[in-house]
Amino acid sequence: MTSDTAQDLQGLKAAGQVVGYTIAEMRKSVVPGMTTAELDRVGAAILERFGAKSAPKVTYNFPGSTCISINEEVAHGIPGSRVIQAGDLINIDVSAELNGYYGDAGVSFQLPPFNEEIVHLCRSTEETMMSVINHLRAGMKVNEIGRMMELEARKRGYKVVRNLCSHGIGRSLHEKPFEILPFYNPRVTTVLQEGQVITVEPFLSTGTDFVEQQSDGWTLSVKDSSRVAQYEHTIVVTKGKPIILTSA
Ligand code: CO
Ligand code: CO
Repeated sequence: MTSDTAQDLQGLKAAGQVVGYTIAEMRKSVVPGMTTAELDRVGAAILERFGAKSAPKVTYNFPGSTCISINEEVAHGIPGSRVIQAGDLINIDVSAELNGYYGDAGVSFQLPPFNEEIVHLCRSTEETMMSVINHLRAGMKVNEIGRMMELEARKRGYKVVRNLCSHGIGRSLHEKPFEILPFYNPRVTTVLQEGQVITVEPFLSTGTDFVEQQSDGWTLSVKDSSRVAQYEHTIVVTKGKPIILTSA
């Protein structure tokens, strides 16, 4: 969607704030020995308290309120009996609907004891997301996102996962443009509109550049010993710096 009115912007900000707050609270409550289902319940309770609904649940019947992916899992991990261990690489991705507006965000981080390579991977992924966001302006081609993303990832020594995309969002979880590629596609001619609402979500990898769906029909994992981190914000494109909707 494009955010065209003050009411749109207010609704988008309210949904985005719930998402940002939920992720921050979930992150604070992670401890080794906890299951991913227990961590999901922390998120579910916060969404409920704000009157927000889990977007993957209401949109796709996802079997959980939030997506929690550990180590070899990269995205769309189903909360369940997996026990979180010290040193795990954790991704929490929350998307929610509030009063008809949607927000979507994600973070990756490691639990202590820290491994310098994983810490660097997570920091580089957040930096890549922020560089891409700060660069975007209304009137740029949509393929500028992928061009920048791959460039920023490479600069830091990583690949992008090529089969995971950013996307339009706003009145539903996934809207046009549905697949904003994480690499440069010269054939894309669409342009970012003023007020356009999109996610920016790079997945940076230490090795492989694609993920595979597991037999549960949801979880996307790497096949080898590569590690992948994701950061995601929902933003509004403007003539100046974009508005980030999903800060904590
Ligand atoms: Co997400
Ligand atoms: Co997303």
